[in-house]
Amino acid sequence: MSVTEELQATIGDLVDGRRGILAADESIGTIAKRFDAVGVDPTEEHRRFYRSMLLSTEGLGDYICGVILFEETLGQSDGAGRPLPELAAGAKIVPGIKVDKGKGPLAGAPGDMITYGLDGLAERLDSYREQGARFAKWREVYPVSPHNPTRLGLTANAEMLARYAAVCQSRGVVPIVEPEVLMDGDHDIQRCAEVNEQVWHEVFHALHRHGVVLELMILKPSMVTPGKECVSRPAGGAPPEQVAEHTVRSLRRTVPAAVPSINFLSGGQGPEEASANLNALNQLWHAPWQLSFSYGRALQEPALKAWAGREENSAAAQEALLKRARLNHLAMRGEYSG
Ligand code: 13P
Repeated sequence: MSVTEELQATIGDLVDGRRGILAADESIGTIAKRFDAVGVDPTEEHRRFYRSMLLSTEGLGDYICGVILFEETLGQSDGAGRPLPELAAGAKIVPGIKVDKGKGPLAGAPGDMITYGLDGLAERLDSYREQGARFAKWREVYPVSPHNPTRLGLTANAEMLARYAAVCQSRGVVPIVEPEVLMDGDHDIQRCAEVNEQVWHEVFHALHRHGVVLELMILKPSMVTPGKECVSRPAGGAPPEQVAEHTVRSLRRTVPAAVPSINFLSGGQGPEEASANLNALNQLWHAPWQLSFSYGRALQEPALKAWAGREENSAAAQEALLKRARLNHLAMRGEYSG
């Protein structure tokens, strides 16, 4: 198979109109925080057990088409010695890999961030591919304030995403391009829409400059919502119809129809909130892109709570994960109800 054929085959497996992506790629530090919240020690064995439990959920492949793994997980096996990427692939779930190396302050742009990890990326991708990964994810983060993102922040972050995506495509790995506009802050939904439009506009400009083939990538954006501390934000989140309207309007203005799928991140929305918003998005309008999910917390939170580090809770945890996966699959069809 040529590189393009490989990319096309992976897009075909990831974009089928009914399934979404499970983000299980928390870094060592982030998963430690999630484990801490349910009283679990952040050991390598606990991470292995937890993630192999998620991936061995019976029927998960009916609703989940891909899983984003952390580097460590790519080399781990289940209790029977089966490598976890193989376990996923056996369940019709394409294994993917987070390839960025975290973030830090962007010099010259106070308040903005930048992500690391381009050095040696081509070689790393080759070895991830050998371990079974067929797509990758890279996240740039945009804090919102009256001054952020700055013009420099917008261009520098877009450039990173485009360089990453171009390298991925040259190695036969489908890039998920993730510009995350953070929910932290007291900004209103209009300000969030304005920032997301600036971000997406800049990202697609950079993707074009770097020759990234839009048909062979996936966009993983935030939804347009009011900031978490916005005074007019109801406790459970803004009304789904409002989120959907703003999100679709901003996407239409900035994202070319050639992109096959938009898989939203949950970014701190609760599990029900994330499903209700995705549902409203799919009810609102027949979009040129598939509108799907690539949730981390919104899929895993109930499962993590049910598990709480106890092997005997595994069945309950798997049931909780399968339930959220199924509800988000319904939301992709606009058929979710509470
Ligand atoms: P959340 O859905 O928890 O935001 O995670 C998605 C993700 O991959 C963040 O990089």
